[in-house]
Amino acid sequence: MPAQNVWMEKRLDAIEQALAASLPEGELAPTRLHEGMRHAVLGGGKRVRALLCLAAAEALAGNAAAALKAACALELMHAYSLVHDDMPSMDNDVLRRGKPTVHVAFGEATALLVGDGLQALAFELLSSITHEGVASNQALAAVSTLARAVGPAGMVGGQAIDLAIAGSAQPADTPCSLETLQAMHRMKTGALLQAAVELGLCCGPDTGARDASAPQLRRFAAAIGLAFQIVDDVLDVEADSATLGKTAGKDRAMAKPTYVSLLGLNEARRRALALHREALQSLEELGSLQPPSLPQALPPRSRALLSSPPTSSASPLPPALQPLAQLADLIVHRKS
Ligand code: IPE
Ligand code: IPE
Ligand code: MG
Ligand code: MG
Ligand code: MG
Repeated sequence: MPAQNVWMEKRLDAIEQALAASLPEGELAPTRLHEGMRHAVLGGGKRVRALLCLAAAEALAGNAAAALKAACALELMHAYSLVHDDMPSMDNDVLRRGKPTVHVAFGEATALLVGDGLQALAFELLSSITHEGVASNQALAAVSTLARAVGPAGMVGGQAIDLAIAGSAQPADTPCSLETLQAMHRMKTGALLQAAVELGLCCGPDTGARDASAPQLRRFAAAIGLAFQIVDDVLDVEADSATLGKTAGKDRAMAKPTYVSLLGLNEARRRALALHREALQSLEELGSLQPPSLPQALPPRSRALLSSPPTSSASPLPPALQPLAQLADLIVHRKS
C-alpha cells in the first residue's frame, strides 16, 4: 500500500474509534435520541473535515491528541448539518450515506433534536482540547472559529441563502449571479472546511512556525473549501444514487442554483481543477519556506514512491505536507 494510503487508513481508523467513543451509547436513555445521533454520525462519511484537521496539525508537528478531538468535533458538527439539510422543510432527502436519513428512520422531531444534540456535543468536545494540553486561549480561538464557521456568517447563513434562492421563481433575465452562488458555496460548505484547517492550526505548537504557515494554509483551505461544493454540484449530475449514497439529481429537481446550472458541467469541472491547482500552489509555497517544523523535501525518487496518483504537484513537497495534497486530490477527484 502506498505510504499516503497508509497515512489515511490509519487516521480513518482513529477517527472512527474516537467518534464512536464521543457519542452517548444507544442503550442509554433517552435511547431514541442517542440511537439517532449514532445513526447520523457512525458508519459512513468520507471524514474529509476530520482528515483535513489532522493533516494541518501534523504539517506543523502539532498536538495529535487535541487534533483528534477537534477532528471529531468537526465531524459531529458536519453530521448535524446533514441531518437538518435532509429534513422535509429543507432538501427533503430520504437517503444519506447509503442509509435512510435520520428523520425517515427516527421521525422529524427526533431528527431536530439529534442535530441540536450533535452541535452541542461538538462544542463540548472541542473545548476539552485544554485537557490535552492546548492553552486555554488557543482552545477559545478554536471554539470561536468553529462557532463562526457554522453560524450566520458561515454554514447556516449559506443554507439560508440556498433556501431563499432555490425554487423561488427567478425571472429568466435575473438568474442567481455567480457572485451570489460563490458566496453561498463558500458559506454553506467552504466555511466548515476552512475551519477544519484552522482547528488544525489551533492544535499546532505555539511558535512562530505556526504563524508563518498560516497564510498559505488558509489560502489552501479557501481553495479546497469552494472546490468541495463545486464537485458536490458536479457529482449530483454525474453520479448515481448508489455511488453517492444520497439521491442523485436532487439539485435540478429542486431548482437549486449550482455551478452546473449556472456554468455547465465543463466549466464547473474546470473551476474545480483551477482551485485544486491553487491549493497545491499554496502548499508548494509553504514547502519552499522550509520552516524548521517541516521535514526537508525528499529527493524526487523517494517522492514518487510516497505519493499516490493523481497528486499533480510539480515541485517536491515536504512529507509533512503530502497528506494535505492528497486530501486536495481526494476532494477534487472523488467519485462520491
Ligand atoms: C456533503 O458532504 C455535504 C456537503 C457539504 C456538500 P460530504 O460529501 O463530506 O459528506 P460525507 O460526510 O462524506 O457523507
Ligand atoms: C449542503 O449542501 C451543505 C450543508 C451545509 C449540509 P447540499 O444540500 O448540496 O449537500 P448534499 O448534496 O445534500 O449532501
Ligand atoms: Mg442543501
Ligand atoms: Mg442537501
Ligand atoms: Mg449537494
